[in-house]
Amino acid sequence: MSADIFVTGGSGFVGAATVRYLSNAGYWVRALSRSEASDRAIRAAGGEPVRGDLESVSGTHLAGCEAVVHAAAHVRAWGRWRDFRRVNVAGTARLLAVAREAGVRRFIHIGTEAALFHGQPMCDIAEDDLPLALRSPYPYARTKAEAERLVRAADDPVRGFRTIVLRPRMIWGPGDRTLLPALAQMVETGRFAWVDHGRAATSTTHIDNLTRAIALALEHGEGGSVFFITDGETVTLRDFLSRLAASIGLTLPDRSVPGGWLRTIAFVVEPTWRFLAPEREPPITRMVAAMLACPCTLRIDRARSELGYRPVVSVEEGLARLRQSAIRSARVPNPEGAGAG
Ligand SMILES: NC(=O)c1ccc[n+]([C@@H]2O[C@H](COP(=O)([O-])OP(=O)(O)OC[C@H]3O[C@@H](n4cnc5c(N)ncnc54)[C@H](OP(=O)(O)O)[C@@H]3O)[C@@H](O)[C@H]2O)c1
Repeated sequence: MSADIFVTGGSGFVGAATVRYLSNAGYWVRALSRSEASDRAIRAAGGEPVRGDLESVSGTHLAGCEAVVHAAAHVRAWGRWRDFRRVNVAGTARLLAVAREAGVRRFIHIGTEAALFHGQPMCDIAEDDLPLALRSPYPYARTKAEAERLVRAADDPVRGFRTIVLRPRMIWGPGDRTLLPALAQMVETGRFAWVDHGRAATSTTHIDNLTRAIALALEHGEGGSVFFITDGETVTLRDFLSRLAASIGLTLPDRSVPGGWLRTIAFVVEPTWRFLAPEREPPITRMVAAMLACPCTLRIDRARSELGYRPVVSVEEGLARLRQSAIRSARVPNPEGAGAG
């Protein structure tokens, strides 16, 4: 297939990797861009930027595109409810309507397991085990749940407008703008602590596994379906984050706080903070405290059987690649090169 694909969020972590993967695979990729910096990021990934945002996207932007990959979102642990709603819910609703009118045939939505999250453990769950968290106290989780509901409801076999939701968990790898930078910043500012010694089990999703799943979903999978996408391995937060940090030469401190205590603190701090200093992110939010304290492991049997998905990068291999690229950019010393001339 070498159809035109329209990507949103093409300047972000997931979107840029998607633009790169799809253009390398022979697709023509056009991507929504809000700025010159985003234009550059999209061009560097092999796509063609078109100016606009989710609030103004129109049929002209999508003209001639067979499929949409919707990766743009307000991806934050903190912010005003109205900003989450404007981008994640109203933006998704507008894009769906415009795509349908423009004759798009397939709409791939980058969802998240957080769309199910209201503060509970999620152990070894399949896609339909839990309802969408439409009353989640966390703005990101609730608005991603609402967005997912809209996407699933928009699936229309009669008109040939098919929608698919992919739910990755904890995306990592080259280009990550969230996980590793946040870890590095917490360590540098002395704010890092484990929660319950990092014992919570988690699934993770290497960016190359996600882009592979996106490419598969463009061709396979029943419209209206939802798929968890992960690395297919279970790790503990402690093991994974320690090794992730080590890949760029960071050592995570040993300090740990009890999850129950942290969640109580966040429960008290967040509303007070929202009242007194809503523009500044508090040191801990209720959502982050809950996510760090709760196990979250996801089954990918459905993606395996219906999309033909297989992780293409293991956790071990992804970490080794990060380390190699940190060595190449001289962020960490090369143990094998010590003393070499
Ligand atoms: N990162 C994770 O661990 C993770 C896990 C599960 C699911 N997800 C999902 O994956 C998707 C991509 O996340 P990411 O990590 O790639 O986030 P990201 O790096 O923060 O990128 C967000 C993208 O959305 C764009 N955007 C934001 N508001 C917009 C608006 N109003 N109109 C148009 N574009 C807008 C941004 O454009 P600018 O560059 O102009 O700001 C950027 O390109 C999201 O849907 C997120 O919910 C992420």
